[in-house]
Amino acid sequence: MSRQFSGIQPTGDMHLGNFVGAVGRWVQDQDDGLFCVVDLHAMTLPYDPAELTAGTRRLAALLLAAGLDPDRCTLFVQSHVPVVTELTWILNCVATVGELRRMTQFKEKGHGQESVSAGLLDYPVLMAADILLYDSDEVPVGEDQIQHVELTRDLATRFNHRFGDTLVVPKATVPPVGARIKDLQNPTAKMSKSVDSPQGTILVLDDPKVITKKVKSAVTDSDTAVRFDVEQKPGVSNLLALLSVATGRAIPDLEAEYGTSGYGTFKAAVAEALVEYLRPTRGRYEALVADPAELTRSLARGATKAEAIASATMDRVRSATGLLPTT
Ligand code: AMP
Ligand code: TRP
Repeated sequence: MSRQFSGIQPTGDMHLGNFVGAVGRWVQDQDDGLFCVVDLHAMTLPYDPAELTAGTRRLAALLLAAGLDPDRCTLFVQSHVPVVTELTWILNCVATVGELRRMTQFKEKGHGQESVSAGLLDYPVLMAADILLYDSDEVPVGEDQIQHVELTRDLATRFNHRFGDTLVVPKATVPPVGARIKDLQNPTAKMSKSVDSPQGTILVLDDPKVITKKVKSAVTDSDTAVRFDVEQKPGVSNLLALLSVATGRAIPDLEAEYGTSGYGTFKAAVAEALVEYLRPTRGRYEALVADPAELTRSLARGATKAEAIASATMDRVRSATGLLPTT
């Protein structure tokens, strides 16, 4: 049985792109997987402690609401299994400063800053520790994280070479680029939380009225045909893709129904479908937020399950690296 592990940072609000592209895939394929809210990773850039606490709970609640089921998978908070930082230290002694400085994300996030934390440089080693601590085989990530999973593979291989076969060497699994949800205002760019057009990004917890407004003001073209053609009609194609995701219907089927209906009618249908698609998640989210103790219990249970795997890995790692046993 191949084990999947993925992590998501508790920063910013989840948008439809994350929901469909990442979380939706996790939910579909969640059995025996580990899903981690990576709060320690969110400390590498300046942040507000109260917002980190609130963001961690919010994201965990949203992941449960989206369909991660604690009976089928392990959902937990990274810092609740603190040995991940011990493994990070050990892997720090295997990683080189040179390879960490070459990471694209470090160069991008550190660019133009007067000073950067050592944590930002070390970010990928903590991510490697996440993956390796839980004997993960598959790591579903977006393209920007492939380089970090490659580094994880290098570190695991180097570790095993130096200390004997101890760590499972994982591989990245990446969703097809075609599956990207595009920005409603700029339909040739992917929907993302870091763009300047909040109108183009639908948040999972957006009020239905806000969703409707965003869809109705989506950029289309001066033609009138509802047809899937990413080159000529990127805006309409993105709306068709969204309608297909939201209704589970095939795109040709939707083209047949809305081909000549005009953009106004089509957009109204897309808006309504998205509101309905997100409604159950929003409802479950609100119920979870109203019962904080239940969320705390779910996360404690996740941490206990994760801890059991982690402690077995750490026993192997400590023994392989020559750390003195306590007993
Ligand atoms: P981000 O919040 O941009 O770091 O994205 C987290 C994950 O969500 C990525 O690794 C992707 O798998 C997924 N994702 C983000 N944006 C999109 C999008 N526009 N369409 C599909 N998937 C996305
Ligand atoms: N670095 C990842 C991101 O920003 C989040 C992450 C942390 C992660 N640890 C992980 C992803 C382990 C996959 C596996 O998206």
